[in-house]
Amino acid sequence: MNFSIKKICCIGAGYVGGPTMTMMASKCPNLIFNVVDINEERIKLWNHKDLSKLPIFEPGLRELITKTRGKNLFFSTNIKKAISTADIVFISVNTPTKIRGLGAGKSSDLKWVEASAREVARYSEGHTIVVEKSTLPVRTAEVIQNILYSAETNSKKEDISFSVLSNPEFLAEGTAIKDLETPDRVLIGGENEMAMLALSEIYEVWVPKDKILFTNIWSSELAKLTSNAFLAQRISSINSISAICEVTGADVREVSRAIGRDSRIGSKFLDSGPGFGGSCFKKDILNLVYLAEYFGLNEVANFWEGVVNINNWHQRRITEVVIKKLYGTISEKKIVVLGFAFKANTNDTRESAAIKICKDLINEGANLVINDPKVSAEQIENDLQIEENSSGKMKGEASIKNKTGQWSFSRDLNIFNDAHAVLVLTEWEEYKHIKWDLAVKEMVKPCWVFDARSIVDIEMVKKAGIKLWRLGDGSEEEKMTNF
Ligand SMILES: NC(=O)c1ccc[n+]([C@@H]2O[C@H](COP(=O)([O-])OP(=O)(O)OC[C@H]3O[C@@H](n4cnc5c(N)ncnc54)[C@H](O)[C@@H]3O)[C@@H](O)[C@H]2O)c1
Repeated sequence: MNFSIKKICCIGAGYVGGPTMTMMASKCPNLIFNVVDINEERIKLWNHKDLSKLPIFEPGLRELITKTRGKNLFFSTNIKKAISTADIVFISVNTPTKIRGLGAGKSSDLKWVEASAREVARYSEGHTIVVEKSTLPVRTAEVIQNILYSAETNSKKEDISFSVLSNPEFLAEGTAIKDLETPDRVLIGGENEMAMLALSEIYEVWVPKDKILFTNIWSSELAKLTSNAFLAQRISSINSISAICEVTGADVREVSRAIGRDSRIGSKFLDSGPGFGGSCFKKDILNLVYLAEYFGLNEVANFWEGVVNINNWHQRRITEVVIKKLYGTISEKKIVVLGFAFKANTNDTRESAAIKICKDLINEGANLVINDPKVSAEQIENDLQIEENSSGKMKGEASIKNKTGQWSFSRDLNIFNDAHAVLVLTEWEEYKHIKWDLAVKEMVKPCWVFDARSIVDIEMVKKAGIKLWRLGDGSEEEKMTNF
């Protein structure tokens, strides 16, 4: 069967569905893209006249939305209409780790995927190509197929039929538009060759053919999980080495540079930081762990679980360094936290290292002033599950009463007064240009900068007389002293 593709529906208007469909719409002006979501508020924001209100921040997204929205790209909550008129339906809904029941803490919760498949089964007409865009455990396509094929046989509509494909998304938040524009590869897994070619034709408008890979559906599902597991593993590897650097006098940036020159290793993804975050890495590795355990491959499961364990340990380690350097106590000390998003150029805070680190610091009694150029105070409150102290009075009574510390939010960077320390957690560009010679005048001496992202201007910090700790830098004061 040859497929004629005119209309496309995407279920899920999140960090993947939104930018992915926007890019496709900009490249394929002859196709209509309907992006639908059950979250009315999110859809309202996607349709907001003021583009600074879009629900997600990605460099380059606003420009593409201006070009496409209302022309061949539409955001709505009318799921029924979008599915019934679509030739292709992308399922791009959330797949978080299950919090209860069988597989809790490791396997993915597929309830949103299942609900989407049922909606497709109910509303579709004619032949529909159903594409798994969400990251899914291996063999999820079987679940989707079962739901769709049973609709095929039980439906009163005579002409409905489906082909299921896997087309995982490899974009990284913060560089989503660039990644979608020039992807390293596009992966299409499936059995129905004509459906695979129909999907490929959309990508071929802007992606070179040799970058479009065809596999069977299970390899495609597993390749996405494996890809994220390998990336996270690299971060845990370099972060574990940063701890060794600090006690031996080595510098992790020099080690990264040296090993990155080996073409077998490569230089990307070798920056140490406060530990990986984002909605995907931890969830996808735990999924892999669950899969391995399910098949009795316990050594494999332990190997991958180690990557997550190191990440948790590493985040705790940063809090401990701060406490140790601030003379063993941070109770009632003001600490400025620079960055809450899990990485720069996104407003996403899911699994951000900042959540755990800030919670730990507050538990130790610190008074935090948190800055982030894109994350809102409401989001931080939601993540920390600790109410913001927005009175601006950070010292004294409140913290004694509460015993634990507190936090407040500031969008501007005029926040160094009375601070004992500054902790850099996200690599936002503006943090590279802080005038430390001015900041130091307002801080409590001796004062510290803890740079977990290696971005501050070292010379300026030192010249200002501020003590500096950089992640993985053993070259300063610890030089050989621990031997
Ligand atoms: N965020 C990333 O960087 C990234 C990258 C690659 C792959 N992925 C994968 O893509 C998938 C989506 O991730 P995301 O970050 O976009 O999630 P998200 O939470 O930002 O968005 C998912 C959206 O789906 C909507 N939704 C859920 N059930 C629905 C239903 N039945 N009908 C209509 N809408 C529904 C939700 O309301 C939400 O807006 C996940 O499987 C994730 O693992 C994410």
